[in-house]
Amino acid sequence: MPQPLTLRPPRDRTVALVGLMGVGKSSIGKRLANALNLPFFDADAEIEAAAGRSIADIFAERGEAEFRDGERRVIARLLDQPPHVLATGGGAFMQEQTRTLILSRAVAVWLKADLEVLARRVSRKTTRPLLLGRDPLEVLKAQAEARYPHYAEAHITIDTGDAPHGAAVNSVLRALERRSREAPP
Ligand code: S3P
Repeated sequence: MPQPLTLRPPRDRTVALVGLMGVGKSSIGKRLANALNLPFFDADAEIEAAAGRSIADIFAERGEAEFRDGERRVIARLLDQPPHVLATGGGAFMQEQTRTLILSRAVAVWLKADLEVLARRVSRKTTRPLLLGRDPLEVLKAQAEARYPHYAEAHITIDTGDAPHGAAVNSVLRALERRSREAPP
C-alpha cells in the first residue's frame, strides 16, 4: 500500500494532466492538488467560465476551431499562474503551441487507461460534444491512434488501469518525487 505522507514531491512547478476523455484528469487532479496542497484548475471549466457557456454550446454554436482557440488562450493564462495542478481537456495537448507551452512551463503527466475502461466511463455522460451520436469506443480508438504519439511526449506516464482514483494520485505523487530526484529542474 503506497504511503503518500512519507513522500515529498516538489511543489515548485505546475503539474499538467493530459490524456483521453474519461481517464479522470479532473477528479485525479483535484485529489492530487489536495495532496500537494496546491490550487486546482480545470481548463474546461475555465473555458466555460470565460465564454459564459458550456463546452457543448461552444462546439455547437461556434465550432471546434473556436473552442481550440479559447482553450489555447485559457491554458496559456493558467500557466502564467503560480504552481498549481491543471487538468487539461483531452485535445489540448494536440495543439503544438499549447503542448510546447505545457512542456516548458509544467510537469506534464499523461494519465492512461484501457480504451474499454474509458468507453465505459464516458458512456455515462452526454456532455462531450465529440461523442454525440457516436460509438465512444470507436471515437476513443481513433483518438488514441492520433493522440498517443503526442501524449507520449509528456514527462511522466501513469497507467491508471481501472483502479480507484486515489491509487492513481499516489502513483503520480511517487513519479513526481522520483523525477525530482532523477531530473532536478
Ligand atoms: C475533448 C475533451 C474534453 C473537452 C472537449 C474536447 C477532446 O475534455 O475539452 O469536449 O478533444 O478530447 P475531457 O478530456 O476533460 O473530457
